[in-house]
Amino acid sequence: MKKIISVVGARPNFMKIAPIHKAFKKYSDRITHLVCHTGQHYDEKMSKVFFDDLELPHPDFYLGVGSGSHAEQTAKVMIEFEKILINEKPDMILVVGDVNSTIACSLTAAKLHIKIVHVEAGLRSFDMEMPEEINRILTDRISDYLFVTEKSGLENLLHEGVPSDKVYFVGNVMIDSLCHYLPKADESDIHSELKLEKGKYVLVTLHRPSNVDTKDSLDGLVNFLNTLGAKRKVVFPIHPRTKNNLEKFDLLKGLNENVILSDPIGYIDFQSLTKNAEVVVTDSGGIQEESTYLGVQCITLRTSTERPITVEVGTNQLIGIDLIKAEKVCLEVLDGNIKKGKTPELWDGKAAERIAEILSEKLG
Ligand code: UD1
Repeated sequence: MKKIISVVGARPNFMKIAPIHKAFKKYSDRITHLVCHTGQHYDEKMSKVFFDDLELPHPDFYLGVGSGSHAEQTAKVMIEFEKILINEKPDMILVVGDVNSTIACSLTAAKLHIKIVHVEAGLRSFDMEMPEEINRILTDRISDYLFVTEKSGLENLLHEGVPSDKVYFVGNVMIDSLCHYLPKADESDIHSELKLEKGKYVLVTLHRPSNVDTKDSLDGLVNFLNTLGAKRKVVFPIHPRTKNNLEKFDLLKGLNENVILSDPIGYIDFQSLTKNAEVVVTDSGGIQEESTYLGVQCITLRTSTERPITVEVGTNQLIGIDLIKAEKVCLEVLDGNIKKGKTPELWDGKAAERIAEILSEKLG
């Protein structure tokens, strides 16, 4: 029996591991697939609700690392994960995305000569100020099997000299989850709970340090949300980092009544909100992809994207962090100036099946 340990740490990991876990069931006579949760995200609303919504099993290992500086968080994951690897001796570990848990677990496995699988490899924002960019580059450098979601990933890895026989273009596991759970999302009650009319609201999520860590940027954000709120209802599920900072600068009370604040929202309800939004404003990576798949207008408040396919063929517009410009573009979209998009190649709900098939062959 071969053994693979997959790692989840933070919110954007859960919906990527769920379809992979399901796909490995087909090979359960030969491969044991275990899940390790590092505990980087630990709140009920940032973590547990996703295990429930995505029908993920109770993790086989929970490291409970919690928050801390980048070094603390990364180091704590490494110390705890090393113990698991030494005890369990897996044949491979599988990591997804670009969070601190991704690099921490990869680095630990590399030093123990355990093979590393990186799902969502090759994405590059070319912005080394983003902790995620550092995590992506380093994880890819020490991975043995690199699974890519879009063509730009293949080009980036080729430029970096990664041997092409390690790299596989398989599509997007995040879209696998979306395809699988859309029928459930269509049954969600979230619109009536939040008193929203479908197709007539703006959905906002912002948590990147460049948008939410200074008083200046948050002052601008409050004005921006209030301007949108004068036109449409605005739903703003707040990430803990953003909430903590708005509280710290005493800005929450400056938001007008059309801006509906909520705690982080579970996976199924959130997809329902995305699917039915008139426009989504975000700085998240995953939401750029989900809105592209759903054909929903997306305005990304970042200067770069590691997912260029969402701009090239999808509905995403990369606006930068100038909120005056963002306001102009949002109002134009609300006035009907929309960007047409189509579904990127291989975003068909079957990426995890391809990954499981390739890995089962490699494991022999
Ligand atoms: C992390 C990831 C980012 C991902 C994001 C999605 C890294 C470097 N960043 O950023 O790529 O897009 O998750 O959410 O790995 N907090 C809670 N409860 C939680 C989790 C966090 O209150 O369950 C608080 C922490 O105390 C901290 C803040 O939120 O103050 C930020 O959490 P952290 O995990 O450091 O990074 P994120 O900004 O969430």
